[in-house]
Amino acid sequence: MRALGLACSPRVGGNTDIMLDKALEGVESRGGTVEKLYTTSFNINPCLACNSCFKTGRCVQRDDMQLIYPRLLSYEGIILAAPIFSMNLAAQAKIVIDRLQCCWSKKFVLKQNTVSEEIRGARKGLWLSAAGFDSEDVFEPALATVKYFFAMLEIKNWEKVTYHSVDGKGAILGVPGALDVCFEAGRTLAGGTG
Ligand SMILES: Cc1cc2nc3c(=O)[nH]c(=O)nc-3n(C[C@H](O)[C@H](O)[C@H](O)COP(=O)(O)O)c2cc1C
Repeated sequence: MRALGLACSPRVGGNTDIMLDKALEGVESRGGTVEKLYTTSFNINPCLACNSCFKTGRCVQRDDMQLIYPRLLSYEGIILAAPIFSMNLAAQAKIVIDRLQCCWSKKFVLKQNTVSEEIRGARKGLWLSAAGFDSEDVFEPALATVKYFFAMLEIKNWEKVTYHSVDGKGAILGVPGALDVCFEAGRTLAGGTG
């Protein structure tokens, strides 16, 4: 398996970044290869809502999403590491998700698949998240967006690992067992738990 880890927090070395590293270690432990990208390192514009993709299935914008699209559509494993900001996914994740409007158009307007048949059924996803508030409900609004994200990427098989009450940088390190859970989630993504 090739797994893409999208690190979407502006806080490098923060909670979701740490969780992502552990999950990617889990993928590697099963022989998978991994690539980690920080969305903050790329020049990504918001969706223009120009609807050009309704006709072509492609985005007219020529920015760094052109580097991310092929990876999102061809890797067997996609890991979205995105914290909760203002009760939803951090903007650094949402900007990428909005730019998948061309995938939505291709699938639902043009009635074409976005992912090649060889890998479509085998693709798996994982959402890693952390939130400061003391309630599991804090992930609910973002969950709807994450479901939509994986649907646009034609990934039916996906899991989530979320921790609330995790706020300060690196606080996840103090949550008993959390990193083991992330590691196991990576192993599962890459093919199972054995
Ligand atoms: C701009 C901003 C908005 C936030 N909004 C929320 C929120 O609505 N609910 C919540 O539970 N935590 C919120 N937090 C706290 C983060 O979710 C928390 O610190 C998390 O651990 C950050 O993960 P990271 O270290 O990967 O960036 C917010 C943090 C920031 C910086």
